[in-house]
Amino acid sequence: MRSIVSLLLFTALTSARAPLSHRLHEAPVEIPNDVSAAKDEAAAPLNSNTIKAESTNSTWNNVTVCNGHAELCSRKYSNVTMVGAHNSPFVVHNNLASNQHFKVTQQLDDGIRFIQAQIQFPVKDDGTGPHFCHTSCALLDAGPITQWLSEVRQWVDSHPQDFITILLGNGNYSDPSMYAPYIESTGIVQYAFVPPAHPAPTTGSMPLDDWPTLGEMLSDNKRVLMMLDYKANQTKYPWLIDEFAYLWETPFDPTVDEVPVTETLPCNVQRPPGLASSTAQKTLFLMNHNVNLAVSLLGETIMVPAVALLNQTNAATGINSLGAAADVCIETWGRPPLVLNVDYYDRGSPPGSVFEVAARLNGVTYNNTCCGKTLAPVESGAMRNRASLFKATMIALIVKAMWLL
Ligand SMILES: *[C@@H]1O[C@H](CO)[C@@H](O)[C@H](O)[C@H]1NC(C)=O
Ligand SMILES: *[C@@H]1O[C@H](CO)[C@@H](O)[C@H](O)[C@H]1NC(C)=O
Ligand SMILES: *[C@@H]1O[C@H](CO)[C@@H](O)[C@H](O)[C@H]1NC(C)=O
Ligand SMILES: *[C@@H]1O[C@H](CO)[C@@H](O)[C@H](O)[C@H]1NC(C)=O
Ligand SMILES: *[C@@H]1O[C@H](CO)[C@@H](O)[C@H](O)[C@H]1NC(C)=O
Ligand SMILES: *[C@@H]1O[C@H](CO)[C@@H](O)[C@H](O)[C@H]1NC(C)=O
Ligand SMILES: *[C@@H]1O[C@H](CO)[C@@H](O)[C@H](O)[C@H]1NC(C)=O
Repeated sequence: MRSIVSLLLFTALTSARAPLSHRLHEAPVEIPNDVSAAKDEAAAPLNSNTIKAESTNSTWNNVTVCNGHAELCSRKYSNVTMVGAHNSPFVVHNNLASNQHFKVTQQLDDGIRFIQAQIQFPVKDDGTGPHFCHTSCALLDAGPITQWLSEVRQWVDSHPQDFITILLGNGNYSDPSMYAPYIESTGIVQYAFVPPAHPAPTTGSMPLDDWPTLGEMLSDNKRVLMMLDYKANQTKYPWLIDEFAYLWETPFDPTVDEVPVTETLPCNVQRPPGLASSTAQKTLFLMNHNVNLAVSLLGETIMVPAVALLNQTNAATGINSLGAAADVCIETWGRPPLVLNVDYYDRGSPPGSVFEVAARLNGVTYNNTCCGKTLAPVESGAMRNRASLFKATMIALIVKAMWLL
């Protein structure tokens, strides 16, 4: 059996051409003229953000329910826990390299309030600008960022009582000016909240109490916080904040080998590296909670979710469950994570357990409805071409074979 797997892996690897990371760097990216023109507008500082850091007024205009619960309106952003959809755009039916079953609109409808994805540039520039891609665009290309962000903007348009956070990964460590015009063109920036401490403070220098309440932000029509993991420039783009200036993350993408079976993983800082405990103590944090298989393909190592473990990984209780991991964070740092970042949020024990955990941490009632009631899961992939479909099928076969061993 192992030799079959090796053979499959060997076939996949030898079908690779040049390493993708090299090809990526060779690909010139041309920004269309009309989008370049939007650059100057994007550079203009936002001045509509009128929320006072020290405000404690818990009366707001017409917002009565925040993120589904009246109680959350008077809670500061730093005192709310959200469920996050890890790799939100990677929704490809029957492809085990995906991270989610449902597209972003359904994710938000189901109660996801933090969405995260990595931006890359496709090898072949088709004029659509940056895309969301899994490790590289040849492996899994989930389409232009403008498409996904437009869907998100439409959802935000029609949900004045919900506050969401978007974390964009800067896959190529590019200057944000390469992305900003595309983000701007979707219209989402009008909703962006700019934190009182900006340009970026040093990590930990923005006191947790300086975050406004959800009610305050929503009553000001600020419904979105947008972050970039690397190379943000808040002087130029105040609406795209520097993730690690405001929060830290626990280790991402642990593999099955790294997850002990007898105890829950510790809640430690991975990024930014070398962060002092005393600083971590007073900084918001994101808990990554997923378990992966590492698969080598086309000269890249790609992490695919260990789907057979999802019931336990996303459960409310039990060793290495989402609930147990959050409790370890509370024991370690004295408060729950800002984000519970999970794969396949709709899976659990029972389905919905990820929202049950967030409700417990927020001290609100979980209404026991999950998930995907309004839309069917994606049936046909966002795969861009037959070649990548073939590669994805290979990954799926390899992973399936591994699970059968
Ligand atoms: C809070 O704001 C409302 C208007 O939004 C105002 O009527 C009220 O007086 C304010 N309360 C305090 C304590 O400042
Ligand atoms: C509150 O009023 C403002 C201004 O009229 C409007 O833009 C916003 O959508 C309203 N919010 C809700 C929750 O109705
Ligand atoms: C909110 O703050 C209270 C008081 O510090 C704390 O007990 C609670 O765990 C916090 N909840 C979240 C979700 O941060
Ligand atoms: C349950 O909560 C979800 C997420 O907040 C919400 O979308 C849904 O409408 C709620 N369902 C009921 C029956 O209240
Ligand atoms: C990647 O980033 C480098 C700078 O770090 C830049 O020169 C190059 O154009 C970028 N490539 C792509 C495809 O975005
Ligand atoms: C950020 O943008 C400002 C204003 O455009 C510019 O002066 C500065 O050099 C930029 N910083 C970086 C690190 O690119
Ligand atoms: C996971 O739980 C669902 C329902 O709660 C159940 O139908 C399914 O068989 C379970 N899967 C595994 C691998 O235990």
